[in-house]
Amino acid sequence: EKEIKLRPQLLEQYIGQEQLKKEIAVYIKAAKQREESLDHVLLYGPPGLGKTTLASIIANEMGVNIKTTTGPAIERPGDLVALLNDLELGDVLFIDEIHRLPKNIEEILYSAMEDYFIDIIIGQDATAHPVHFPLPPFTLIGATTRAGMLSSPLRARFGIVGHMNYYTEAELTKIVHRSADVFKTKISSQGAHEIARRSRGTPRIANRLLKRVRDFAEVAGKSEIDSDVVIYALNLLRVDSHGLDETDRKLLKTMITLYNGGPVGLGTIAANIGEETDTVADMVEPYLLQIGFLKRTPRGRVVTLRAYEHLGFEYKQI
Ligand code: ADE
Repeated sequence: EKEIKLRPQLLEQYIGQEQLKKEIAVYIKAAKQREESLDHVLLYGPPGLGKTTLASIIANEMGVNIKTTTGPAIERPGDLVALLNDLELGDVLFIDEIHRLPKNIEEILYSAMEDYFIDIIIGQDATAHPVHFPLPPFTLIGATTRAGMLSSPLRARFGIVGHMNYYTEAELTKIVHRSADVFKTKISSQGAHEIARRSRGTPRIANRLLKRVRDFAEVAGKSEIDSDVVIYALNLLRVDSHGLDETDRKLLKTMITLYNGGPVGLGTIAANIGEETDTVADMVEPYLLQIGFLKRTPRGRVVTLRAYEHLGFEYKQI
């Protein structure tokens, strides 16, 4: 029996990121033809767009194992050695949040990536001695929210750099239909489209909202998710018609009421809404910029007319 999984397993099942998919398909084919490991891949873009999914698809298409970790989980050189020591020829090592690798670990990665060896010091004081570890050719896939957060020596060692973009409503609608199939749940095309519209261009959010809406539909005894139950459930969840959540609205309202819509610096905005600056920079601001609710200016962020209208505030710039 062929069970389809929520996460696609093959490039052809992966919806969206069309340009990147085409490129990656070529690089995989070429590497396989040459019987070489795939060059190192850096994936960057906002959270929830499928970087981890794409990494596991790449490993699957290459026919190799994938080992997964995160930047902050690798604290000491020994942690990295243990991971690298486990790799077989051609395997993928996936490091999520690679911008959060400690500096000394990052330096060990340089020779691992470039020439497939590492030199480390084993033992302490009198017993300390250098050890040379040869490694099998492998593929490092790194994921990060912003490419600019990586040091340039690390960034330069990735032969393939892929930028992940927010998904279109049409792509998200397809993903919602596919996920509903996986959940064996019926959904109308209007219902799927309404979830897609409110998912901030992000498959992870679309799938999460689909699960919650399904709960409401089932408890209401509906045999199909229609747009009525989607609208009812998402209004209750305080996800608005543009997909904005409480944090998005709080940010915009704070800028409008305290700073007359800006310009305001990102750190000031973050402090006023009680979020970390990085959280705002990685998870909140990019979508608001994308839909034209915020603009970047040399003097800071500015709320646009469009956002004023959406939130029901009168636009008076001074
Ligand atoms: N589920 C989550 N992201 C997906 C994608 N890009 N394609 C297909 N299914 C998905």
